[in-house]
Amino acid sequence: MSSNSNNRHEAIEKNVGLLAILIVIAISFGALVEITPLMFQKQTTEPVENLRPYTALEMEGRDIYIREGCNVCHSQMIRPFRAETERYGHYSVAGESVWEHPFLWGSKRTGPDLGRVGGRYSDEWHRVHLIDPRELVPESNMPGFPWLEENVLDGELTQQKLMIFRDNFGVPYTDEQIANAKKEVEGKTEMDAIIAYLQSLGHAMK
Ligand code: HEC
Repeated sequence: MSSNSNNRHEAIEKNVGLLAILIVIAISFGALVEITPLMFQKQTTEPVENLRPYTALEMEGRDIYIREGCNVCHSQMIRPFRAETERYGHYSVAGESVWEHPFLWGSKRTGPDLGRVGGRYSDEWHRVHLIDPRELVPESNMPGFPWLEENVLDGELTQQKLMIFRDNFGVPYTDEQIANAKKEVEGKTEMDAIIAYLQSLGHAMK
């Protein structure tokens, strides 16, 4: 290296402000190159063929899932490795999540991935498991959520939730689905809602 370029290197290393600015430029460039194409690729922006929006009841279930922190222990992203696909099924693809706001992929797995748990157990299995997991899995350290069985939904906000997803995120809800949203959930328990949500997970790739 010529002494001239050594000097320039030294000048940058000794000037913290300049170094910081150049680091930010270098990282931004890397991010642009990696992230920008993903925003325009069909594969990452368009729904997979069989994707349907959450029903009103599933949408309420999803909110309860978030409220109870289920996503703190459960991921919803199956990685493309043999050990994962043997256990959980096809690895997750971006087109399954285009209508998820916020997405619940996660990476912390105290419990199993739930990305394709829909249809794996009966509704009754989930009911018993959610009230007291140790009834079914004696060594489980998942907490019970018995109140879900007692709390009844009034559906006051359900219609608005679907409208937000349609108007802001482009989820294709029909006027009919929105008009019936309250009726669909009113009087159901939170347990009904969360089970409906769990049973819907992974439906598009079954
Ligand atoms: C403290 C961590 C923790 C939290 C919070 C938690 N779970 Fe779990 N979950 C586990 C563990 C550990 C297992 C595996 C043992 C078992 O089946 O109970 C599990 C298992 C499950 C299973 C069975 C998955 C399978 O493939 O066998 C379902 C479904 C489930 N949890 C749903 C939920 C839901 C819904 C919530 C929120 C209401 C929740 N979990 C909250 C830790 C947790």
